[in-house]
Amino acid sequence: MSQAIVDSAEAPAEPEVTADTGIQSFLVTFIVRRFDPEVDEEPRWVDYDVEMYSTDRVLDALHKIKWEVDGSLSFRRSCAHGICGSDAMRINGRNRLACKTLIKDLDISRPIYVEAIKGLPLEKDLIVDMEPFFASYREVQPFLISNSAPEPGKERVQSIANREIFDDTTKCILCAACTSSCPVFWTDGQYFGPAAIVNAHRFIFDSRDDAGDVRLDILNDKEGVWRCRTTFNCSEACPRGIQVTKAIAEVKQAVLRG
Ligand code: SF4
Ligand code: FES
Repeated sequence: MSQAIVDSAEAPAEPEVTADTGIQSFLVTFIVRRFDPEVDEEPRWVDYDVEMYSTDRVLDALHKIKWEVDGSLSFRRSCAHGICGSDAMRINGRNRLACKTLIKDLDISRPIYVEAIKGLPLEKDLIVDMEPFFASYREVQPFLISNSAPEPGKERVQSIANREIFDDTTKCILCAACTSSCPVFWTDGQYFGPAAIVNAHRFIFDSRDDAGDVRLDILNDKEGVWRCRTTFNCSEACPRGIQVTKAIAEVKQAVLRG
């Protein structure tokens, strides 16, 4: 099924120039994997021809489809600027944030495939149940645990060098792009997954925290860090550029040091 959302029934063969702005527009085909649990037994692919500009993002295309063609298209998004982490999805087979994926960076001579991230239960269209992901996150105790209070009226002091040790892993926005790109997680949903380990890393290496040993014990579990097969899918998927595989390796080393 193809649903065009331009006024003309005929697709323009060449990029069009919008008279008022002088900016070229393109007709881009998006093939979206749809699933409505109340109607569908299996997901189905639906294609949409959408008028786009090179400065548009995949999220803009999804908005156009939802607002102008089919209001039932379901996906999560909030900030639209790469901060909230809610719109991770598979775009042409790669996990990305729809709000950070520019049309100009994709090959629009071919259809652009959009589907939900893998490894988590599919709820509707591009929405998955994130609860298993957040359950693993909660399990590693991703908050500061200290055995002592700071001096009255003082902050907990930390050197620049000590802060640097876990700076990379503070950038996580919990989008699940890493965990849902991990083949171990696909085959074994019990694996904590890269995101939980990244967020454990953020506190294990924080000089102000006193519960690193507890977290290392948790991650020394059979579903913990040793399930990682170092495929680097997680690092490639991370929209924040976090060196996820390196963080996992550092946690492995910390477990071995005891
Ligand atoms: S480590 Fe990167 S990919 Fe994984 S949840 Fe955090 S921001 Fe997303
Ligand atoms: S909508 Fe918030 S990260 Fe994309």
